[in-house]
Amino acid sequence: MSIQQVFDQASQEYDQLRRKFVPCFDDFYAAALSLLPRPTVCGDERPIRVLDLGAGTGLFSAMVLAAISQVRATLVDLSPGMLEQAHRRLAGLDERVCLIEADYLTADLAGPFQAVVSALSIHHLEDADKRRLFARAHGLLSPGGVFINADQVLGATPQVQEFHHALWLRQTHQAGITPGQMAEARRRMAFDRLTTLEDQLAWLREAGFVDVDCHYRNYGFAVYAGRRQSAPAL
Ligand SMILES: C[S@@+](CC[C@H](N)C(=O)[O-])C[C@H]1O[C@@H](n2cnc3c(N)ncnc32)[C@H](O)[C@@H]1O
Repeated sequence: MSIQQVFDQASQEYDQLRRKFVPCFDDFYAAALSLLPRPTVCGDERPIRVLDLGAGTGLFSAMVLAAISQVRATLVDLSPGMLEQAHRRLAGLDERVCLIEADYLTADLAGPFQAVVSALSIHHLEDADKRRLFARAHGLLSPGGVFINADQVLGATPQVQEFHHALWLRQTHQAGITPGQMAEARRRMAFDRLTTLEDQLAWLREAGFVDVDCHYRNYGFAVYAGRRQSAPAL
């Protein structure tokens, strides 16, 4: 089974189980939202272009669109099933939203964007592809633009990783995840390629980002970001 098929299959139930599978759901997405660019002058209605990589059912994009009325969002995902749910979720926002069914590593994406965001998707890429994607995101941003990734990260040592995973299993059990739902999740997790936070922060700097930092962490969940250098003042 491919990653596309796994997410197509999960697309119907994906949203209703999110809070159970992401124990820190509210704080995690709120931290990512807090990092988005906002108009500095009251009444500035200029569009803020946001690209969402691996947008899935549009869960994060919907929060972004609700929080900032100037946002025009481009959602990219390789699963038609997940995008179908996004289409339903964002019905009525047609003028602010563009859905693209494609692999974000190779898709034809017309920048520049003021923000490139991603939630719980980049951890599916092999390390070399993560580095390639960071360079790509940097190139798609306008000067001063921000890259924000809310994602799962690997513990710094095997022991830390084991602790995070055991804790997550207890939390999901307490939240009421059934053995069947966990078996489904494990099929998706077969496509996980977790990397430490430290490595990813270093790769962002290597790609040219500045102000690189992790702004939120809850065990295996992290929100980190970097900014494309602003153009020098004339
Ligand atoms: C766990 S879901 C996250 C969805 C959404 N961002 C959220 O926060 O709920 C991961 C999504 O990434 C997509 N994905 C994974 N690798 C991708 C790639 N290379 N190109 C486009 N989409 C990808 C999957 O199809 C899936 O919809």
